[in-house]
Amino acid sequence: VNVIGVLTSGGDAPGMNAAIRAVVRTALKEGIKVKGIRRGFLGLLEEDIYDMEYKSVSDIINRGGTILHTARCPEFVKPEVVEKAAQVCKKHGIEGLVVIGGDGSFRGAADLAKHGINTVGVPGTIDLDIACTDYTIGFDTAVNTAIQTVDKVRDTSTSHERCSIIEVMGRHAGFIALWCGIANGAEDILIPERYDYDEQHIIDKINRRRETGKKHYIIINAEGIGDSHAMAERIEKATGMETRATIIGHAQRGGSPTARDRVYAAAMGAKAVDLLRKGASNRVVAHVKGEFVDYDIAEALAMTKDINQYMYDLSKRL
Ligand code: F6P
Repeated sequence: VNVIGVLTSGGDAPGMNAAIRAVVRTALKEGIKVKGIRRGFLGLLEEDIYDMEYKSVSDIINRGGTILHTARCPEFVKPEVVEKAAQVCKKHGIEGLVVIGGDGSFRGAADLAKHGINTVGVPGTIDLDIACTDYTIGFDTAVNTAIQTVDKVRDTSTSHERCSIIEVMGRHAGFIALWCGIANGAEDILIPERYDYDEQHIIDKINRRRETGKKHYIIINAEGIGDSHAMAERIEKATGMETRATIIGHAQRGGSPTARDRVYAAAMGAKAVDLLRKGASNRVVAHVKGEFVDYDIAEALAMTKDINQYMYDLSKRL
């Protein structure tokens, strides 16, 4: 392989820059040229493509976001659109493509592979919701950002003797919520995977805790359950305890990546290039039981992932 492309697609995640850097530097060291594609598959279709040099990725390992920018590209499901993207790759001499993103982006990579472009996916999403891998780039930073915010909300919640419902991201998955709940010692954690949400149970618990002198009550609510403001109103009405909702939002997607995100990004980015060098295609890099491995994209997309039951039980016990 002489020329590869790299793009980031879907929601950005801290550590994506570290992954881009690893792709560029690993490839250049092997004498492979690298084309940076801006704004994901959308930018590929619009030929927003430039040559990347060793220095193109200087001073980015510590930066959040993605220097390549990102976009969601719903029209990439259309065969004629994929066909056009493959033609653009061929026009620019791109034989292999590293796609850093989530499941939706991998679907695009798999379609492109059918048109003769060798593709490898690298899991980048704060949500941790990619089934084939134990780790996704961005999760650790997002959780650390979220727990710091929850700590701050806890301070004011205690001062005012309030109940606080704090909503964290994660789309349909509760991984961020579960980790925050454990790390913050929240009174309740609501996640879509174990949707046994019983508001009366929470109300009774708040009332019991208040009788024992508890000054605050923290509920971590996963975005997949949502409804935080309305929930706050209902809980306040039922308990008489002032209740506020805080939706942390996109702050969780930014910021300097943690060591864990940088190191996993480096390893996964380099592995993606190694796979392309071997002539592999339609693969996704994963981290499973401590090893960096790879799967066929279709096989990876067919897998399912649940939250760890031990961790969930732990959150209830503490
Ligand atoms: O997939 C990452 C994520 O931040 C999810 O947690 C969230 O549901 C979604 O993206 C938000 O998307 P957008 O930035 O397009 O609003």
